[in-house]
This record gives sequence, C-alpha cells and structure tokens, in this order.
Amino acid sequence: MEKLAVKYLGLTLKSPLIVSSSRLTSTLGYLKEAEDCGAGAVVLKSLFEEQINHHISTLHSSPGYPEADDYISNYIKSHSVDEYITLIKKAKEILSIPVIPSINCYSSEGWTGFAKNIADAGADALEINVFFMPLDRKKSSINAEKIYFDLIEKLKKTVKIPIAIKIGFRFSNILNMIDQFYMRKVEGVVMFNRFYEPDIDINKIDIVPASIFSNESERRFIIRWIAMASAQDIKIDISASTGVHSGADAIRYILAGAHSVQVCSVLYDKGIPFLKKMNRQIEEWMDKNGFGTISDFRGKLNWHNYKKPVVFERTQFMKYFSSID
Ligand SMILES: Cc1cc2nc3c(=O)[nH]c(=O)nc-3n(C[C@H](O)[C@H](O)[C@H](O)COP(=O)(O)O)c2cc1C
Repeated sequence: MEKLAVKYLGLTLKSPLIVSSSRLTSTLGYLKEAEDCGAGAVVLKSLFEEQINHHISTLHSSPGYPEADDYISNYIKSHSVDEYITLIKKAKEILSIPVIPSINCYSSEGWTGFAKNIADAGADALEINVFFMPLDRKKSSINAEKIYFDLIEKLKKTVKIPIAIKIGFRFSNILNMIDQFYMRKVEGVVMFNRFYEPDIDINKIDIVPASIFSNESERRFIIRWIAMASAQDIKIDISASTGVHSGADAIRYILAGAHSVQVCSVLYDKGIPFLKKMNRQIEEWMDKNGFGTISDFRGKLNWHNYKKPVVFERTQFMKYFSSID
C-alpha cells in the first residue's frame, strides 16, 4: 500500500481515504474494521461543545447546563465525555492508523481548555467542526469570522497536536478565511462539512430534515474551491469531504489538490469494506495513467497547474450559459 501513502497534518497515512466523523467512527469495532479495510486514518464521532461545557460545570459542581434544551440535556446525560476519552485511549492501543478526535462547536467559550485532555489521551490530531449559524442580522460577517479566529487562537495556546478546521463553504471569501487559518498556524482545513438542512414536506405541510446522506452530484460545489485553495502559496493541508462515493471521486478531489479524502455516506450505504474497493480503484487508475505515488498527481488540475485556469472563473460561466438556448 506504499503507493497510496500520503502526508496529512504531518502524519503518514497509508491511504488518502479517511473515514469521516459519524456513527461509523464511534466504536472500537467500527474503527478496527476501518483500519482492516484500508482506511488511512479515522476521525472520531464528534463530541459537542455542549457536552464538554456540561462536563466542566459538573466538575465545578455548578448547576447543570442551563442553556441546553431537552434534547441536548438528554444527549449530554447519555453520552459522557469520559467515555470519549476512553475511546481515544483504546483506539490508540488497538490501531496503527492515526486517530483524530473531533469537536463540534459554535463558540470558543468555556470548552477549549478541554482540548488538552484529548491531546493527553493520545490523539494524533484534532478536527474542529464549527457549526455556527449567523442568525442575528445586526451582526456583521466580521463578528462571525472572529468566532473562528478566537477559537483557533485559544486552541493553539492549549494543544501542540495538529488542528484541522472543518468548515462550510458559505463564506464571502473562503480563500481569505483559509489564509487567516494558515496565519494562525492551523495545519489543515476540511472542505467541506455537510450541515444539517431543513426541507419542506408539502403533504404534511411541515418542516422535515433533508437527506442526511450525500450524493455524488454534491461534488460540484466543492471541486472549484479545493482547486483554488490548493493553488495558493500557503502550506495548509486540505481534506476533501462531501460527495465521495467511489475511488474515482477520491481521485477527482486529489487531482484538484486534496491531501486526503474523507468518506461517510457511501460507507453507510455499502458498508465499511467498500474502502477496499475504493483503494483498489485508485491504484488501478494510477497504474493505468503511470502514476507511482499520490503526490505525482495531487493538484495536477488545480487552479495553478491547469493549463486554462479560466475554467474555474467567471468567463466560463458566461461561455457555458450563453451556449445553451
Ligand atoms: C449519520 C451521520 C453522522 C454524522 N456525524 C458527524 C459528526 O458527529 N461530526 C462531524 O463533523 N460530521 C458528521 N457527519 C458529517 C460527515 O462526517 C461528512 O462530513 C458528511 O457526511 C459529508 O461526507 P459524505 O458525503 O461522504 O457523507 C455525519 C454524517 C452522517 C451521515
């Protein structure tokens, strides 16, 4: 598997395929299966900021976690932070691939010091999934962006392990955000998170959750930004996430410039052993095209390396739409 080896967050991965944070990375059984089926690393199911803050408040015997609604309170009670730390320690004992815990948060208030416990448990890196929704029209984008920067600055003072920020793609200027992460010494960016979205059922006349699982067509939102971000002259690793349903999809993201590729929905559909097939598909494609290593083709089609970078830009839009009547 030497041939598929990549570097991500300073870690050596035997394959670019990472099982992304979900229930499929929540037990030792699933984690071991992921390693046995050829995953290069695993990102553990996220711990929530609310869980950590509740844990901290009980340690200081202050009363509960008053902001939490009923669902969150119940979730907190049934998923303990101590169990998460135990999962990291045990995963490190039984796995040889990197173990990357994940925290889902919306602020930097209270919980960031806890990242040290995660690092002390043996985590190889930390992924931070920022799920902040700007619902206050009086607050500018600068306020929203500051949440990310405060968070990173606090975490960087707390832990030495590499940090990856998992972001959504709805920023006014994604490339500037990534540059700001880089200037704060963040090692990686996960492009992109797939947030929960509401949908409307017209029969029930009600709000229902949109599909929690992705499909391949979602790739179209992502390739441009990976191709643009990977072409910048900054050293920040990119992990592609969303819409990877085959080895071919992984190859596409690597050609656009990703250092690693995260996989989730397709493994719910086809099972964790599908990773073996994906690795095989990547290897076969490499053989067919004469690539000996992943770095031989990583970024080959990014904004900098592609012969006509204009395909990522506005003129392409004009050309494309004006050619269809
Ligand atoms: C059932 C389920 C649970 C998930 N749980 C988490 C989570 O705890 N933390 C997280 O960062 N992402 C979570 N995700 C998002 C995935 O890690 C991934 O980013 C997203 O599904 C897009 O990748 P995909 O197209 O391969 O599914 C979850 C996704 C699914 C489908």
